[in-house]
Amino acid sequence: MYASWTVRHKPKTLGEIIGNPQAIADLVSWLRSWEQGIPKKRAALLYGPPGIGKTVTVEALASDWSLELVEKNASDYRTEEAVRTFAGLASQYGTLFGKKRLVLFDELDGLTGREDRGGVGAIIKVVKQARCPIVLIANNAYNPRLSSLRFYCLLIQFKKPNVRSVAKRLRQICQREGIEPEEEALKFIAQRSQGDVRSAINDLQALAQGKQQLTYEDVSWLAYRDRKDAIFNVLRLIFYSKSCDAAKSAVDMADVDHNMLFEWIYENMPYHLRDLEDLARAMESLATADLYRSRIRQTRNWKLTRYVVDFMTAGVAVAREKTEPAGFVPLRFPERIKTLSRTKKERQTKSKIGWKIKRRCHISAAEAITEFLPYLRVIFENNAGMASGIAKWLELDDAMVEYLAGTKKQAKAIVKAD
Ligand SMILES: Nc1ncnc2c1ncn2[C@@H]1O[C@H](COP(=O)(O)OP(=O)(O)OP(=O)(O)O)[C@@H](O)[C@H]1O
Ligand SMILES: [Mg+2]
Repeated sequence: MYASWTVRHKPKTLGEIIGNPQAIADLVSWLRSWEQGIPKKRAALLYGPPGIGKTVTVEALASDWSLELVEKNASDYRTEEAVRTFAGLASQYGTLFGKKRLVLFDELDGLTGREDRGGVGAIIKVVKQARCPIVLIANNAYNPRLSSLRFYCLLIQFKKPNVRSVAKRLRQICQREGIEPEEEALKFIAQRSQGDVRSAINDLQALAQGKQQLTYEDVSWLAYRDRKDAIFNVLRLIFYSKSCDAAKSAVDMADVDHNMLFEWIYENMPYHLRDLEDLARAMESLATADLYRSRIRQTRNWKLTRYVVDFMTAGVAVAREKTEPAGFVPLRFPERIKTLSRTKKERQTKSKIGWKIKRRCHISAAEAITEFLPYLRVIFENNAGMASGIAKWLELDDAMVEYLAGTKKQAKAIVKAD
């Protein structure tokens, strides 16, 4: 089973939490003030964007201070009975076992107007009479629905941690997982996550799990991926939907083109369709889609595209007969795309050399690459003097010389021989 790294590396103490030193200090000093009796504001309202550590800060604080933490969220708050329990809990500071209590009411944004009889009004009532500290958490404290509640709360804003601290946290996680990361790779992931620590850690897991090293090259092609959540949901829809229509609708949700989506499906399918017969059927369908793809490439008959879509979505969806939906399966980025982007520069250099040869020898660049390049390689790898003459004649630049020479050392020797 795969454990999500956000859970496995969830901070256990305040010291592990990155960012928001001021907010945390404010929270701590408010909590401390309870030692001197009930303060004016009996609740603190933490607010800020998702994935930056609001919930985990409260949990770590409770653990550091050995508080009894009672966690609730909006869905626990639907019935009047639940509200009464909540009120009961909040009416006592100390517990039977001498531990102090902290009540956390998370994900306030999820409170909907009418259906929760209690709703915001009931929370206010509880807060007004609370005899123990209550922490409330919301993404948006300025949601009009919370306006009357705000008055009773100490407002504490959580902001997105900066790139440097996110990268630092990623480095710690790599260390624990026994992975040696390049600084640039971590910075890249951190930057892309835009302060959302949760999504940065998820990215890191998808890219680095099972590796010993993580290089910039491993992550740089991430730029191909626009919205990972979107693709994640799209794939789940394709692998697990019960109807063809639902699977096909996934294509409209995906913000990648058909070819890219094909690669995503191909790469991830074996990790989802665990039953071998299911997988074989799905592969068969994907192969048929691929056949249409190549026919489209050859004939430019775009009308065939709908068959590609049918086979790679609905075809894959109906292939699943025995496999049960898997739990958490990390998303894998298409290997084939990775390789292509990694070798892109190399391919560019090669084609530029083809053009240089074409100019001198009056053959097509493609022919130059297949017919001449292999011989040039042998010469450049073995005879620096001769290579130097050819390089001059063809007007090759340093990158091209190095490409043909194979190593930096040999390239230097060729330049020197000039
Ligand atoms: N500041 C942080 N320091 C270290 N880890 C963090 C931090 N923020 C988030 N994480 C990681 O991301 C996970 C999710 O964080 P958390 O649940 O606290 O986010 P949140 O701000 O409450 O988001 P939401 O608004 O979606 O509830 C944590 O379990 C932890 O692994
Ligand atoms: Mg949270």
